[in-house]
Amino acid sequence: MEKHRVLPDVTVMSDHAEIPGIGFLPVNTFVIHAEQPVVVDTGLSTPDKDFVAELAEVIDPADVRWVWITHPDRDHTGGLWQLLEAAPQAKLVTTFLGVGIMSCEWAVPLDRVHLLNPGQRLDVGDRTLTGYRPPLFDNPATVGLQDDKTGALLSSDCFGGPMGSPQQAMCADVREVSAEDRRAAQLLWAAIDSPWVLGVDRPTYAATVDSFRRLDPSAILSTHLPPAIGLNGPMFDALDEAPSAPSWVGPDQEALEALLASFEPVG
Ligand SMILES: [Fe+2]
Ligand SMILES: [Fe+2]
Repeated sequence: MEKHRVLPDVTVMSDHAEIPGIGFLPVNTFVIHAEQPVVVDTGLSTPDKDFVAELAEVIDPADVRWVWITHPDRDHTGGLWQLLEAAPQAKLVTTFLGVGIMSCEWAVPLDRVHLLNPGQRLDVGDRTLTGYRPPLFDNPATVGLQDDKTGALLSSDCFGGPMGSPQQAMCADVREVSAEDRRAAQLLWAAIDSPWVLGVDRPTYAATVDSFRRLDPSAILSTHLPPAIGLNGPMFDALDEAPSAPSWVGPDQEALEALLASFEPVG
């Protein structure tokens, strides 16, 4: 993972996942260096990952007090249980539904859980974090947040977009990608990850985006896009455009068989 201190007290830890035919999806986690340190999301769940070891390059994992899982998809929960072991004081911030989803796979220790719904605040000593459901999401347990001290908006899957290379996916500033490529990537991701947006009532959706625009974040930190600082106008404009994104359909069985036939026989 690449580590970028993008704000004086926010570190982004950047990983990526290659999606065939689509690109390189950033997979970010965040450390808010608050009086009570907060980790937001815990990365990919594949066996080659050691999230706690990566985190130790940024902060002593034992000091972590809050582990905020924006939603329990497996690209957000990779290091969760190892981190809760390494951070005995830490509480898992999620929703009732988030606990339910995680309970399908794990014995969630309820005495370690802190339930927080959109609109509620978490006091982390020197600041509060306010929970929000972002305009685009792929899981009903989703709660992003705004840090009231830095103004940073941590938006979960919302604002994401696949990049053209691993280097772009893990870079410190989305401005390394052209504005047109970023916009196209965001519209593609909206259609892939939140396909329901293509059928929304547009005035209602526009009002939701508007209410987020008024948060006037100092930085937009998506799990699936390099950090975006000073780009609120175009970032929210891309979100506004999402209902008009071209619809996306994944490869079908015929395409899979063509792909498999193109591989060299083994042995
Ligand atoms: Fe997701
Ligand atoms: Fe995700």
